[in-house]
Amino acid sequence: MKTHTIAVLEGDGIGPEIVREAVKVLRAVEPATGARFELKYAPFGGQAWFDHGSSFPAETMAVCDASDAILKGPIGLGTEASKQIPVNEQPERGALLPLRKRYNTYANFRPVYLPPELIRFSPLRAERIPGGIDIVIIRELVGGLYFGEKKEGLSAEDGRYVTETLEYSEREIRRILMAAFEAARRRRRLLHSVHKSNVLLSSVLWNDVLDDIKKYYADVEVRSIIVDAAATALVLRPDQFDVMVMENMFGDILSDLGGGILGSLGLMPSACIGMEKSFYEPSHGSAPDIAGKGTANPYSMIGSVALMLEKSFGHDAAAARIWAAMRRVFGSGHVTADLAEPGSPDRVLGTAAFGDMVVSALAD
Ligand code: IPM
Ligand code: MN
Repeated sequence: MKTHTIAVLEGDGIGPEIVREAVKVLRAVEPATGARFELKYAPFGGQAWFDHGSSFPAETMAVCDASDAILKGPIGLGTEASKQIPVNEQPERGALLPLRKRYNTYANFRPVYLPPELIRFSPLRAERIPGGIDIVIIRELVGGLYFGEKKEGLSAEDGRYVTETLEYSEREIRRILMAAFEAARRRRRLLHSVHKSNVLLSSVLWNDVLDDIKKYYADVEVRSIIVDAAATALVLRPDQFDVMVMENMFGDILSDLGGGILGSLGLMPSACIGMEKSFYEPSHGSAPDIAGKGTANPYSMIGSVALMLEKSFGHDAAAARIWAAMRRVFGSGHVTADLAEPGSPDRVLGTAAFGDMVVSALAD
C-alpha cells in the first residue's frame, strides 16, 4: 500500500482547531483512497517562536523536507504578542515567506467557489450570481514586492524612508502564465490576465511574455484586464471570470476580495504548488480573537485537504467527495458562525460539529 507522508503545521490562533477537523476528514476518506497517510506534526508560526525560539525551527524544516506534501494552518499572533517578536522573525516574514521560498511554491491556486448550496452566503444579490461563483485565482507566490530587495535609510529632509523592490524575470512570469494556461485548459478555456501596465514596467514585461506564449495555447481565450478594473468587475459580474492569473501582491488583495464575494474568508482554501513540493493552507489568517472558542469555520482547512488529495496525490475522487460533503452540510440548513445571519433559520455549527457533519455526509 502506498504511504504518503504529510507534514502537518498547525500554526497559530484557530490553526490547531481547524487542522483537527481537516485531519478528521482526511482520516475518513483514507480507506477509499487505497493509500495510507502518515502525519508528522511540527511547530511553525508565532507560538513556535515562543516555544522553540524560531517561527520555522530547523526540525520543522527537516520534517517538511522529508514529506510528500505539507498541510499548514494559518499563522500569526495578536498585535501585542507579535510585538514581542523581532520584526524579521515574526511568523509572516520569519516562517511563511521562507516556507514559500524554500519549496519555491510559485503557483498559488485560490478557488473562489460558491456552489448553489452556498449562494445564500454571498453579499451579492442572487440574480448577479445565478449559478453561484466558480473562479480560480492563480497568484504568483514567490516573487514581486514580497521578496524584492529592501532598503531602509534616513534622509535629513524627509526622515526615515524605505525602498522595496518589485522585480520579475521573464522566466518567473512565463512559468506562472503556463500554470494558468494549463489550468484554463482543464476548465472553461478562458484566462484573464491581470496587470497594471499603464503604470508598472513589470506589467509591461508580463504582457510581453503573455503575447509570446499565448500562441502555444491557441485553444484558450485570453483577456487582459487592469487590476483596479478587475476588482470592480469581480464584485459586479463575477460570472465573467473563470481562471485569473496575476503577480503576488495583486493576488493577495484580489483573493481576499474573492473571499468577500463568497461571504467569508473562511471559504477560501488554497494550494501552493512547487515543482517538487507543494503545501496547502487556508487563504485567511489565524483569527486570534476567536482562537480556542470552537467557533471557527474549518471549511478552508478541509478544502485545503481536498486540494492536497487532488493536486499532490491524484486522489481526485476522494477530493470530489469532500467538496460534495461540505456542500451537503451547508445545503441542509447549517452554517458556521462566520456565515450566520441574524434571523436566518440556519443552524449554527461549531468547528468540531461541522467536521463531524462533513464526515457523516461523506457516507451519503
Ligand atoms: C495570504 C496572507 C499572507 C500573504 C500573509 C500572512 C503574509 O495574507 O496568504 O494571503 O500576504 O501572502
Ligand atoms: Mn492575504
